[in-house]
Amino acid sequence: MSSNSVSSALDGQHFRHVVGHLASGVTVVTTRTATGPHGMTASSVTSLSLDPPMMLACLNRAAPTAHAVSESGRYAVNVLGQEHAHLAQQFAVPSEDKFRGVGLTAGEHDLPLLAEALAHIECEVVEEITGGTHSIFVGRVLSASAGQGQPLTYFRGGFGRFEFARDDAVYRRARTQVLERQYAAGAVLHLDDLAHELGVDAASAFYALTRLAADGLVQRDPSRGYVITPFDVTTSDATFDARSAIELGVIALTAHHLDVEQLAELRRRFEQMAALLVGERFLDFDSYLDANYAFHEHLVSLAGNPALTAAFGSLSIKTVMTRSFGSTPVTSQDFIDAQRQITEGLERRDAAAASAGVMRYTELAKQRVREILAHTGGRL
Ligand SMILES: Cc1cc2nc3c(=O)[nH]c(=O)nc-3n(C[C@H](O)[C@H](O)[C@H](O)COP(=O)(O)O)c2cc1C
Repeated sequence: MSSNSVSSALDGQHFRHVVGHLASGVTVVTTRTATGPHGMTASSVTSLSLDPPMMLACLNRAAPTAHAVSESGRYAVNVLGQEHAHLAQQFAVPSEDKFRGVGLTAGEHDLPLLAEALAHIECEVVEEITGGTHSIFVGRVLSASAGQGQPLTYFRGGFGRFEFARDDAVYRRARTQVLERQYAAGAVLHLDDLAHELGVDAASAFYALTRLAADGLVQRDPSRGYVITPFDVTTSDATFDARSAIELGVIALTAHHLDVEQLAELRRRFEQMAALLVGERFLDFDSYLDANYAFHEHLVSLAGNPALTAAFGSLSIKTVMTRSFGSTPVTSQDFIDAQRQITEGLERRDAAAASAGVMRYTELAKQRVREILAHTGGRL
């Protein structure tokens, strides 16, 4: 265990923080009474027994939904998918109109079911146990059904999504195939073909495709499906020039009043990046890409200007670098030399030297993309 050991005088806030490390799924527990449907977001829901099938839902007795479940003697667990954070939020706030805009279907046992949910489990309450502020509703399962999709998760107070370790490996293989140009620019990547080529099921292949789309390596075309994004010199020139303009602006604004800590962090990030280039090769392209991004992100953040930081964040730098430099392990120490020039220039508060480093680095990057594209007939 790394930190925050439990003290004997355990206060609520501390407990909330510690227990927030227990990741969970997210559900909406619903029921129906004479006054209509009721529902609340709940993560303290779990399966209890398989034979007979039973569930637990732990609901705060102060919540009207808990009273409604007591009264009706039934509840439904609606398991939310990763795109349903808005529903989790809507059902976590007391409201007269909790169900506004929410599609409902009637369950087999007349419970209101959220139409979009990943899975539905209808239960009959067989026991209500008091635990602190909560009621633990022990439910006998009356019906259960599940659809397709990935679950919404909750961890340390934030929503997230679930990722299979094996799916990540499949995505990395698919990405290597795209970067190694096994598919032509503009070609359609069919889900079934990709699944077949990778030897995985359609769900894993679909996950890989959505990650590739987030990387900008494939694009969703409404009529054709997933298409390999063409990449050419205009795209890369525009991106590198835009980054250069931002960085030159940051240097002009800040070079003369940088503090020691800002510079130490820049130096630390530079060294981390430099260590990932051995000779004229990347030790590991993904780690280099992250380190390179972290270096330039910090450089831009020196201005303390949210508009500049946002502009930098919108540049798709990682996509452009992955599309070009990521297609070959070969690179050049010249890149590191130019970035050293930026770092050392700023350490000397020498704006001209640092700016010259940015311009040199930009030209090197643009030139390198041209070399890579020359091997591929102008498109990747
Ligand atoms: C992710 C998440 C999980 C939650 N889990 C629970 C839970 O398991 N039990 C509970 O009583 N409240 C839980 N809550 C809080 C309730 O959703 C919240 O108090 C809600 O307003 C209760 O609805 P009601 O007052 O209309 O009945 C959770 C809230 C969030 C955002």
